[in-house]
Amino acid sequence: MRVMAIVNQKGGSGKTTTAVNLAAVLAARSQRTLLVDLDPQGHCGLALGVPSTRIEFGIEDALRQGSGTSLLDDGLLWEPCPGLALAPCTVKLALLEAPDGPLRDAPDRDRRLAGILDRLSSHFQWCVIDCPPHIGLLVFNALRACDEAIIPIETGYFALRAAERQVATIRAVADRIQRKIAIHVLPTLVRDGSRISQDILAAIDRTFGADVVPTTIREHDVLREAAGFGQAVTQYAPTSDARRDFERLADWIISRDIVAQRAGGISSACNPSDRDAVVMSQLAAPRANTRSVEPPIVEMELNQREPRGVESRLGEVAQRLRAAKMDQAS
Ligand SMILES: Nc1ncnc2c1ncn2[C@@H]1O[C@H](COP(=O)(O)OP(=O)(O)OP(=O)(O)O)[C@@H](O)[C@H]1O
Ligand SMILES: [Mg+2]
Repeated sequence: MRVMAIVNQKGGSGKTTTAVNLAAVLAARSQRTLLVDLDPQGHCGLALGVPSTRIEFGIEDALRQGSGTSLLDDGLLWEPCPGLALAPCTVKLALLEAPDGPLRDAPDRDRRLAGILDRLSSHFQWCVIDCPPHIGLLVFNALRACDEAIIPIETGYFALRAAERQVATIRAVADRIQRKIAIHVLPTLVRDGSRISQDILAAIDRTFGADVVPTTIREHDVLREAAGFGQAVTQYAPTSDARRDFERLADWIISRDIVAQRAGGISSACNPSDRDAVVMSQLAAPRANTRSVEPPIVEMELNQREPRGVESRLGEVAQRLRAAKMDQAS
């Protein structure tokens, strides 16, 4: 399983849009794909039509329980569109990062997600993690668990500075935890024919060179509509240019031959290092630039609607997980 974290401290840079639609495009190619919502705003669930009121268990419950959690077999995963498994979250995920949160004294608190993904690794080919717009325990867990980090940069003013900071931060964290994380900078919200967009694209190329993904996600109204409607672009606008942008991104990602770096997440969880605690304390201060959440009306609408294609928690994947468990037991 290749694990990609979609990460940028800057709010509104297209992280969730990238995570949801990249995961959906991979799933539509019959690639077994897991999407993890690691942002307490819960936008992945919203964008895929999973009403927050029906989420009984979130990734926060699994993270609290650790890799031995039974929620992976039953209760956590949803299937919002065919072949795509979603590990949603609720606002309670934010509590995990609180200074006196439940993982405060857990020595493996920054490796919990890696342990959980290890258990799922033989069931999925891809895992996409949507990160919150601040650096803290959740992003630290994502970076611990991932093979590569995709940093969506909105092609507007201020975005470049934020991206430079983000890349430097990820490199610092990767150095500290001695993990090789491939970093890809993805230009998003690119406006065709816009002078500013083109100038910033050129600046992104100059600044990040070979780390820039050789394809972009353009600005498409249909992506906003799809999210408001609770559907991935593969369902809402399957023949659109917006989908083509994500298909090209998926082509490029698949074409890269990344050797999974994440290994032994569960066993290494027992071996915390003091340096990590130092990094954590340096990075723990939440930033104030979080974009406000989607207008409540969107959530109200979604809650009132019957969700599409999410009748059962997770059909096929849950069955495979249970079968594997029984195999192990016998
Ligand atoms: N390529 C795009 N074309 C049109 N609208 C987009 C595009 N990408 C993102 N958006 C819209 O921009 C807004 C912010 O996008 P998104 O929620 O993906 O950003 P984010 O980085 O996840 O934000 P946050 O930091 O709050 O989690 C949303 O309303 C989304 O629908
Ligand atoms: Mg988001």
